[in-house]
Amino acid sequence: MTKNVAIFISGGGSNMMALVQAMKAPNFDAKPALVLSNERLAVGLTKAKLQDIPTVVVDHRQHGKNRMAFEEAIGRALKPNDIDIICLAGFMRILSAGFINNWRHRMLNIHPSLLPKYKGLDTHQRAIDAGDKIAGCSVHEVTAELDGGPVLEQASVPVRPNDTGATLAARVLVEEHRIYPKVLRTFAARPAPSKLFG
Ligand code: GAR
Repeated sequence: MTKNVAIFISGGGSNMMALVQAMKAPNFDAKPALVLSNERLAVGLTKAKLQDIPTVVVDHRQHGKNRMAFEEAIGRALKPNDIDIICLAGFMRILSAGFINNWRHRMLNIHPSLLPKYKGLDTHQRAIDAGDKIAGCSVHEVTAELDGGPVLEQASVPVRPNDTGATLAARVLVEEHRIYPKVLRTFAARPAPSKLFG
């Protein structure tokens, strides 16, 4: 059965687009059912609309510090779309353990470092500052530990002597676009875990 995928973004949505393009392959067991952004002005929303993918904005600011209310609003947005899998793709909000556990074994994230190194933000500059010769990206299942879920795939790129955070990020992003669709393909083809929510 074709799985319905919700892709959560906050910005440019290049990983979202890599997933969307990959899902067009006839033997890909998933389709993009919804793109959700917490940022009204996220460029990725426009890209998704051009692909005729339903989009929704759930603005965290409208809920102040009330993360539960924010996540309830996300839940309401997902509900009518019969979502099977959530892909976090540059989604820059931290989700609560309660939300994540409801989606366990059904939520993926792409992170721009070779986990377990450099969880959190500013990964490329931290790799440069540490003098690392290799940087990269990881696709992992999402668990309640931030950037700590089981790693399903990684790709590495060399750090060049004159790299800035931006040049390194651009080189890592190319690899993100390669490995995230690959992992989603395998993930979507597994027998579906039972739904707790969604
Ligand atoms: C990507 O590099 C992604 O790995 C990173 O944000 C960028 C989003 O780019 N995600 C995180 O840092 C999550 N902690 P995109 O919007 O063009 O896909």
